[in-house]
Amino acid sequence: MPLVTFSHPEHKTKTVYVPAGSHIETVLKVAKANKIPINFDCQDGECGTCLVKVTSLDKKKERMSGPPTEKERNLLKQLGKLTDEEISQILVDDIPPPWRLACQMIVRDEDILVEY
Ligand code: FES
Repeated sequence: MPLVTFSHPEHKTKTVYVPAGSHIETVLKVAKANKIPINFDCQDGECGTCLVKVTSLDKKKERMSGPPTEKERNLLKQLGKLTDEEISQILVDDIPPPWRLACQMIVRDEDILVEY
C-alpha cells in the first residue's frame, strides 16, 4: 500500500495511504481526495499549473511511477523542467523525471514525496 507524502513550505506536511489496487489514481486526484491544496486548472496536462517535484521514499525501488507521456514531456519541456537530452534519456531508460504534472502522474505501489 503506497504512502504519498505531500510537502509544501506553507502547508503542513501530510502523508496519505493510497488503497492498493487503485492504480488509476493520479497524484492530483489523491491530493484532492485528501484536501491537499495543490494548484490545478485544466486537469488535462495542458496548463502546467499542477507542476510538482516527486522523490522516491522507497530506496529499494527508486521508480516514481511510469515515465511521462509525450504530452506531459512536451509541457514539462515548455516549462523548462525537461531538456531534449533528458527526454531522450527517459525514452531509453524508461525512468521518470523528478518534475511531473500531478494531473498526469499515476500513483503506483511505491512510497513517494510530492513537493508542491
Ligand atoms: S492541471 Fe493543467 S497540467 Fe495539470
